Amino acid sequence: MTISFTPRAEDLVAMAPEGVLVETVTSVDHYTDRLFRFRTTRPASLRFRSGEFVMIGLPVNGKPLYRAYSVASPAWAEELEFFSIKVPDGPLTSHLQKIRPGDGIFLRKKATGTLVLDALTPGKRVYMFSTGTGIAPFASLIRDPETYEKFDEVILTHTCRQVDELKYGFDIVSEALNDPLVGEFAQGKLRHYASVTREPYEFQGRITDLISSGKLFADLGVPPLNPEIDRGMICGSLEMLKDTKALLEAAGLSEGANNAPGQFVTEKAFAD
Ligand code: A2P
Repeated sequence: MTISFTPRAEDLVAMAPEGVLVETVTSVDHYTDRLFRFRTTRPASLRFRSGEFVMIGLPVNGKPLYRAYSVASPAWAEELEFFSIKVPDGPLTSHLQKIRPGDGIFLRKKATGTLVLDALTPGKRVYMFSTGTGIAPFASLIRDPETYEKFDEVILTHTCRQVDELKYGFDIVSEALNDPLVGEFAQGKLRHYASVTREPYEFQGRITDLISSGKLFADLGVPPLNPEIDRGMICGSLEMLKDTKALLEAAGLSEGANNAPGQFVTEKAFAD
């Protein structure tokens, strides 16, 4: 039998393995029956770059269970934000989806990842291509002033199956545009392109099809991908990464990494 409970932060401290922190949940917003956002306290000792991920966890059947989660809040923020899928029998998310303010989560202190500005060579326009919860690292990056220092134009694309799954994207774009710290940089530079694949909407289709057909560029009024000017960051399912990466490579962009910056970077979105 699976024992399912979400422990209060103070009770979790005694169960934390050595070196693992316990952070307190401060808010939870359920977007759909498949998606939710939550925020936690941030330990002073946690350093990360916008776009990186950390390991978070809960005790499941008495043992800590961790999964990689992109930090959705920017590096300067006081709290940590996460955007998660809910899988009914997902090993972690079946429990995590029940958390409430005051509950605790385990947090491993080390942040890492390739969806960081440092892994891109200088350019003029950056595309952030996301599907589903793959938008999370970009929620961090579009709220980081450094993104607007480095690029003249920031295009966030988000594709989901259904319209109600796009809402988190609209929320974070609005937060970025209205933020006292980043708002003035984001205004005039940040653009948001949202599409769905399984119901009618103003913009429809997989991002890969929208790139191949040129519709994405026509809708945005920008020229096709150009390795001199454009940079890309991709986050979604493995298949989405593979297909989007092939299109960027066909346009002449090459993949970068932390130790060898390039014209685009990729990372698999968390899946349970
Ligand atoms: P589709 O509805 O055509 O499968 P998921 O929730 O399965 O990760 O999907 C999120 C979004 O990503 C959906 O809109 C889905 O479209 C799209 N998608 C799935 N696979 C790919 C792929 N290989 N390339 C581009 N988009 C994809």
